[in-house]
Amino acid sequence: MGSARSIVVVGSVNLDIVARVERLPAPGETVSGANLNQFPGGKGANQALAAKRLGADVSLVACVGNDANAAAALALLSAGRVNLECCVRDESASTGVALIAVSENGENQIVVAPGANRELQVEMIALPESDALICQLEVPVDTLMYAAESFAGFMTINLAPALDVPDVLIRRADLVVVNEIEAQFYGDKLDCCKGLVATTFGEKGAVLTEAGSEVARSTPPTIRAVDTTGAGDTFTAALTLAIVEGMGLQAALDFACAAGAVAATKVGAQPSLPERAEVEAFLLSSTIG
Ligand code: RIB
Repeated sequence: MGSARSIVVVGSVNLDIVARVERLPAPGETVSGANLNQFPGGKGANQALAAKRLGADVSLVACVGNDANAAAALALLSAGRVNLECCVRDESASTGVALIAVSENGENQIVVAPGANRELQVEMIALPESDALICQLEVPVDTLMYAAESFAGFMTINLAPALDVPDVLIRRADLVVVNEIEAQFYGDKLDCCKGLVATTFGEKGAVLTEAGSEVARSTPPTIRAVDTTGAGDTFTAALTLAIVEGMGLQAALDFACAAGAVAATKVGAQPSLPERAEVEAFLLSSTIG
């Protein structure tokens, strides 16, 4: 491989407060006996660190508060050498927090209090020149629209969490990433995408389509899922990086599914994001269908 690809991520930073429980509660139910932990998270931050660990040069454009949670939320990004020069601090808002319940089989429920992520405004956006831009929907849509319009390279949008977005944002994307629940939410709206649409199906893998036709499908080998938080973020970062590195679409999807699967074998969002060597070793040691 030649020199590293550069990726700019515009997105959220959260501190994840994680309760590990035997099973997730039903609405209105209380489940006790959880073990509590906190990890750096946020879809934008997770995707930035995932891309960095997989070998890209990464800048994160984000907004945190002026509180103790900010340092905790940014700790692994700083340690992992993600460029945070475009990460701003809002004096009056609190750093985003995600309340996460994770069951013994790795499934999760997430409630996000966005805080400072809501304050990432258009005038704060300065995008460093990069090969690819990755966005998600935990920061204001106007800001994402501006970022998408002012960026000339390959653009990925992870339409998560599902919410109504203007068609023009989907139309601009070279790659749209959704999970199966988000795919149902958006339905026909995804048809306006002129690029690739990747739909993930958890342990069943992912399908890549172009103009409505399947161009690649990948099923990772069975793993023991410990915590799926961050697996989708890893997939999004890995697929974007693989495509801008010039991998073929099937190889890129296999790589992304493998990266997501490895992330699901470990606890926490950012602590679970794999290094490139781990993903390559996983691909070598397993058969991806
Ligand atoms: O995608 C996982 C992330 O979603 C978590 O880290 C949490 O912060 C929420 O944003």
